[in-house]
Amino acid sequence: MDQDRLDLAVSKGIFSPDGVQNLGRVIVDEETLRKRVGELGTAITKDYSGKRPLLIGVLKGAFVFMSDLAREIQLPLEFDFMAVSSYGSATKTSGVVRIVKDLDLDLTQRDVLIIEDIVDSGLTLSYLLRNLLARNPKSLEVCALLVKEGLQRSELDLKYVGFRIPPEFVVGYGLDIDENYRNLPYICSYKD
Ligand code: IMP
Ligand code: MG
Repeated sequence: MDQDRLDLAVSKGIFSPDGVQNLGRVIVDEETLRKRVGELGTAITKDYSGKRPLLIGVLKGAFVFMSDLAREIQLPLEFDFMAVSSYGSATKTSGVVRIVKDLDLDLTQRDVLIIEDIVDSGLTLSYLLRNLLARNPKSLEVCALLVKEGLQRSELDLKYVGFRIPPEFVVGYGLDIDENYRNLPYICSYKD
């Protein structure tokens, strides 16, 4: 990671100097995020013209992205959230997914857009797609901020993708390692 960003983050108290050796290079910086999120918002605004989409944020990782993205969409929107936990280690998903918080709203006849932080193996998302499809939405699409190259075991149909990144573990902009670094304003790699 570059020294200025590191100094700034340490000085803001975002992380302590003793943890920083694990942070690697910046993968997506603030300006690039802002620009791409704007483009995604514009595309969604156009594609859903005349509709009232229901955005479903997958907690917790998607909360920062969803908040920025929603303000780039010029449509009446509704929001709901779902929390899932996948069994596995801190950096690898097992594919066994448990719903920790379910939706409050009914999906019947709704144009539903799932907002995800990152697609790694794709197991979490394919579980979610199956689960939500069974609730009879009118349409169901995915907007994922990040997709790791080459790791998905099955073909997933992702309508909106922010960035395709190398298969490294990343933190920031909502993404965590053991609940840390979600408030970094950019995305950077993390090495154990
Ligand atoms: P998947 O089921 O392997 O696609 O993993 C998806 C979930 O694992 C994401 O929603 C994240 O919560 C978490 N995850 C996967 N890769 C990363 C990463 O690089 N950083 C932080 N969280 C990650
Ligand atoms: Mg996580």
